[in-house]
Parts: sequence; structure tokens; C-alpha cells
Amino acid sequence: MGYFQYQLFFCTNLRKSGKRCCADGNAEALRDYAKQKLKKLGIHRAGACRTNTCSCLDRCEDGPVLVIYPEGVWYTYKTTQDIDDIIEQHILKGEVVERLKLSSEPPGKN
Ligand code: FES
Repeated sequence: MGYFQYQLFFCTNLRKSGKRCCADGNAEALRDYAKQKLKKLGIHRAGACRTNTCSCLDRCEDGPVLVIYPEGVWYTYKTTQDIDDIIEQHILKGEVVERLKLSSEPPGKN
């Protein structure tokens, strides 16, 4: 196991140009919700999980997006229920949440 078992990277990028961005989908608040939930579960720590904030991951049209490593599983989410499902199924049980999963293949390979 690495220093963290899972790292969750949340794009919270805000575009003022009007182009679609993850901030439009409440990404910051939902990242905060995820972080607080992981803390309440006692697993936001070394040896377990870490939430990370990042800028554009170049999947703006799918956003808001997050990617979980080490597997490199991509998710989109809209609600706290989506975050709950990702934490309860993926983080706690190691099961991919199929209804929220995005392709991990680059464009043109789907
Ligand atoms: S703004 Fe989030 S992926 Fe581009």
C-alpha cells in the first residue's frame, strides 16, 4: 500500500469566459462534502484517503469530474448522494460506481 490507499482529485476549475467548467457544477462544495465525510469516517489520513483539489483535467464537458488513484477511475457527480455512493462503494468496498463512471480511455479510443 502507498502512503495513501486512495487519492481523490477533484477539478474545481472556474472559467469566467462562460465556457463550461467544473465550478459550474458546485465542485468546490461537493469536494468539501467528500472531505468532511471521509474525516467523519476517520479515513481522511495517511494510510487511507486524501482529497486533492486540482485545476482543469480537460474533461470539462463531463464535469464536474473527479479521478481516483491508484486505479485511475473517473467519475462525474452532481449531488451529495453521488458523493456518498462513490465513498461508500468505491472507497469503502472497492467497487466501481458504474452509474457515475466515465470512460478512462482518451477520445477516439471509445
Ligand atoms: S474545468 Fe474541470 S475538467 Fe475542465
